[in-house]
Amino acid sequence: MSFTRILEVLATPADLFRAAADEFIRVGRAAIGAQGRFLVALSGGSTPRGLYSLLAKERADFAWNRTFLFFGDERHVPPEHPESNYHMVNETLISKITIPAENVHRVRAENADAAVAASEYEQDLRHFFELEPCDLPRFDLILLGVGPDGHTASLFPGSSALSEESRLVVANWVEKFQTHRITLTFPVLNRAAEIMFLVSGTDKADIVRQVLEGAAMPPLPAQQAQPKDGKVLWMLDEAAAAKLRA
Ligand code: 6PG
Repeated sequence: MSFTRILEVLATPADLFRAAADEFIRVGRAAIGAQGRFLVALSGGSTPRGLYSLLAKERADFAWNRTFLFFGDERHVPPEHPESNYHMVNETLISKITIPAENVHRVRAENADAAVAASEYEQDLRHFFELEPCDLPRFDLILLGVGPDGHTASLFPGSSALSEESRLVVANWVEKFQTHRITLTFPVLNRAAEIMFLVSGTDKADIVRQVLEGAAMPPLPAQQAQPKDGKVLWMLDEAAAAKLRA
């Protein structure tokens, strides 16, 4: 099995978010048509705000009742905290669409023990996907971003989560932030049918070139997102793609 990597460059951030929304809906419709539901893990940070807001504004009529939202990672903070990814997604999307509460699977990161929060989220995934002990959940779509250091989700360079091969979710100590993050692991990312990286802005141009055209050793975390039987779609605006040679 191999993975396919596709690169789409859009002129502006607005074009990028529109193309990303179209792809989100395309994948969602196909999944609902094929299996009656759409299983998607959302990314945090700031870039996807534009996508989530557009989905809320223009796709309120999408089959959100057949859509199940998960999170690729979460900060170790309560859901009402301004740094919470759930807080951002709720503010930009969830609170603006009609989606059953039980369809939204947030990480209970208010738990003082990040390892417990990670374990609880893993149990939620295992229960929802009805997994056997060695199975992996296969998301129809996992949205990801990339940080200037090449991290994705909360898989940071040099962090212990990078080498996790069996757990689905871990609490990952992030040295530079002196805090834990809760994150899906590479086995889950690389089981996805499709990963969509959404990257915007000149401040990402260097890392985009390193990830897409560099040969770092060890590889950057974002380079390790290679679904064994899936597709990686890099959606960039021209600013983020500015330093690509190809
Ligand atoms: C997070 C994300 C993280 C993010 C990148 C890019 O929790 O912050 O999971 O991986 O996607 O850091 O963030 P920006 O979109 O804010 O640049």
